[in-house]
Amino acid sequence: MSAQTSTSASSHDTKLSVGVPADTKDAVKVLSVTHWNDRLFHFEVERPSSFRFRSGEFVMIGLLNDEGKPLLRAYSIAAPFWSETLAFYSIKVQDGPLTSKLQNIAVGDYIIMKTKPVGTLVLDALIPGKRLYMIATGTGIAPFASLIRDPEVYEQYDEVILTHTCRETDELAYGKWLIEETKKDPLIGELAAAQLRYYPTTTRDESPKMGRITTLIENGTLYEDLNVPPLSAETDRVMICGSMGLNTDVKALLEAAGLEEGANSKPATYVLEKAFVG
Ligand SMILES: Cc1cc2nc3c(=O)[nH]c(=O)nc-3n(C[C@H](O)[C@H](O)[C@H](O)COP(=O)(O)OP(=O)(O)OC[C@H]3O[C@@H](n4cnc5c(N)ncnc54)[C@H](O)[C@@H]3O)c2cc1C
Ligand SMILES: NC(=O)c1ccc[n+]([C@@H]2O[C@H](COP(=O)([O-])OP(=O)(O)OC[C@H]3O[C@@H](n4cnc5c(N)ncnc54)[C@H](OP(=O)(O)O)[C@@H]3O)[C@@H](O)[C@H]2O)c1
Repeated sequence: MSAQTSTSASSHDTKLSVGVPADTKDAVKVLSVTHWNDRLFHFEVERPSSFRFRSGEFVMIGLLNDEGKPLLRAYSIAAPFWSETLAFYSIKVQDGPLTSKLQNIAVGDYIIMKTKPVGTLVLDALIPGKRLYMIATGTGIAPFASLIRDPEVYEQYDEVILTHTCRETDELAYGKWLIEETKKDPLIGELAAAQLRYYPTTTRDESPKMGRITTLIENGTLYEDLNVPPLSAETDRVMICGSMGLNTDVKALLEAAGLEEGANSKPATYVLEKAFVG
């Protein structure tokens, strides 16, 4: 299935708007919406002029509920810090309080975006190294959509490896598009083409590379495929973003290899953040 992108408000006319009034506190305008399938979409919004963030951080975004109160959820910013616009990559949970509505936003609608970025998937929480792994499952790729377009990532690391594991092949489409866009970007493309490696895998659909990333690390397939040495606390740094189960399991593998969890206040050799709660 191919992605459906809207950048004009024409499709908006036929359905009821789910957006918030333009004069709502912290409202930002939706500029484009791309539906990848019936479970995933991404959208761009206007960037408030004074808004600053570090690559990998998240903010609270949302709509108003039926009582007119903000209904907000955490979302990783899926755009580079230097971009004129912001972007988010989202799940569609059919009975989810926010995303059952948010999936219907259209160009020209407004959503709420609180302007306090936070998070641990930042370069500042890692000590220097040679190779940076970014391990994502599902929508956990979103913070890396920001980080892989940060020139400092390529200054600090010789090699950047983004792994993305999903159940089904169509869930990899956004990541594939992201890598293609990054490698042809006028600012970051040359660095990314030389230093960024992408390793997509599926766990349910047949695809060229199958298996959970934890299995591929444990049995050495990841290292063989990429022709890199096994994880080392001396040279490797890791950022993880997935479900609680993924984060816990990768954390155990990293700690067995001698890596230590870092934080903004105490940088170390790996960092993690939940891609969702539950
Ligand atoms: C730090 C942080 C960053 C996040 N960044 C993103 C992001 O960039 N993109 C994004 O889509 N979501 C992200 N989330 C999840 C997001 O905050 C919401 O949970 C999601 O938008 C669904 O909201 P909801 O109100 O529709 O359903 P909720 O009531 O929030 O969730 C209902 C159930 O849906 C499932 N679920 C929720 N989110 C996801 C997801 N992303 N992937 C798979 N299953 C999910 C869980 O089982 C959850 O219990 C993030 C969460 C955290 C904690
Ligand atoms: N995506 C779908 O098609 C789908 C459909 C129906 C319901 N849901 C529900 O939606 C929620 C999120 O689904 P999701 O697919 O986005 O996210 P997810 O369940 O976190 O799975 C994303 C990917 O991470 C892998 N994974 C999960 N736990 C792992 C662990 N501990 N170690 C290593 N790899 C791990 C999964 O492999 P495995 O396949 O081996 O688990 C899958 O490839 C879940 O609650 C799910 O029940 C999703």
